[in-house]
Parts: sequence; C-alpha cells; structure tokens
Amino acid sequence: MDSSFSFSYHKFAKPGDLAPEDAALLEAAQEATQLAYAPYSGFEVGAALLLDNGVIVRGGNQENASYPAGICAERAALATLSSLYPRMGIKAVAIAYRNRKQPGRNELILSPCGICRQSLLEVSGLQDHPIKLIMSNPAGEGIIVDSITNMLPFAFSGDHLHPEG
Ligand code: THU
Repeated sequence: MDSSFSFSYHKFAKPGDLAPEDAALLEAAQEATQLAYAPYSGFEVGAALLLDNGVIVRGGNQENASYPAGICAERAALATLSSLYPRMGIKAVAIAYRNRKQPGRNELILSPCGICRQSLLEVSGLQDHPIKLIMSNPAGEGIIVDSITNMLPFAFSGDHLHPEG
C-alpha cells in the first residue's frame, strides 16, 4: 500500500512581512550570529528560541580545531535553555546566518542539520504544542514551517526505546 507525507509551509520575502512576534525572533537570530565562533568555516549561524514564558534564548555555532567537536547554533541555544530555563517549552525557533568566507552567497535559506532536527524534536515531544521553525537567508527572505515534526519524518524517538511508555 502506498502512502505519502506532505506539509504546507510559508515563504516570506522580508522580515516586515512577518507577524511582529516572528519578526522580533528573526531579528534575535540575526543578532545571534555575533555569538558564533566559526573561524574554520566562516559560516556564522545564529539561533533564537522563543520560550513559553516569552523569553528569547540565543545561541551561535561553536567550532573547534577538532572539527567534530563543534556544535551548531541550534543546539548551543538548546543547551542554554536547559541551563537557564530547564523544561521550559519552546514556541518558535528562528535561524539566520552570515557567510564570512563567501559573503556574496546569500541566497540559500538556512535549514537545520539532521542532528539539530532530532534535538528539537526531542523538546517538541515533551510539550503539548508544536515548535514553529523560521528559516532565513542573510537577505531576510525565508520559510516558516509550522511544526518541527514536519522536518524529520519517520524520526527515531523514545517510543522506539520504550514502546509501552
Ligand atoms: N551550522 C549550524 O550552526 N546550524 C545549522 O543549521 C547548519 C550548520 C554550523 C555548523 C558549522 O559550525 C558551520 O555551520 C558549517 O557547517
């Protein structure tokens, strides 16, 4: 039997087209690119998490001379969340970047890596409402996905480890 998976997403041409709360979160993500430590790739990523209590938590990617030891901006922000506001839910995540080595390459809209999708899904599974994802490019264009669950179909989860709950 054939099945299919599909979902709708929203494109925006500039931050001004967003709802004020989303525009503010995207701006926080753009600012958070300044938190990046990315001397190797020159790819500076900023992530901003809007929490259920209205606070915005930021993170930038942190690279390492031992490349695999680096961490993405999204998971840097999640680590900050777990320290400052343990178990607080997330309403939305915005991500932005600057490409220091190729500043002219601005058109691609950033998309979270697989590990970050998995990490965001873990938090999503702990709360009763979806996590919205706002992805952008340095020109301020972007895509909104209403739920992070759409970003990782057939995800591995705790259900696989403990099927009976
Ligand atoms: N990176 C992020 O921080 N987030 C993403 O969504 C994609 C990639 C970082 C990891 C690495 O420091 C640099 O971007 C290049 O891959």
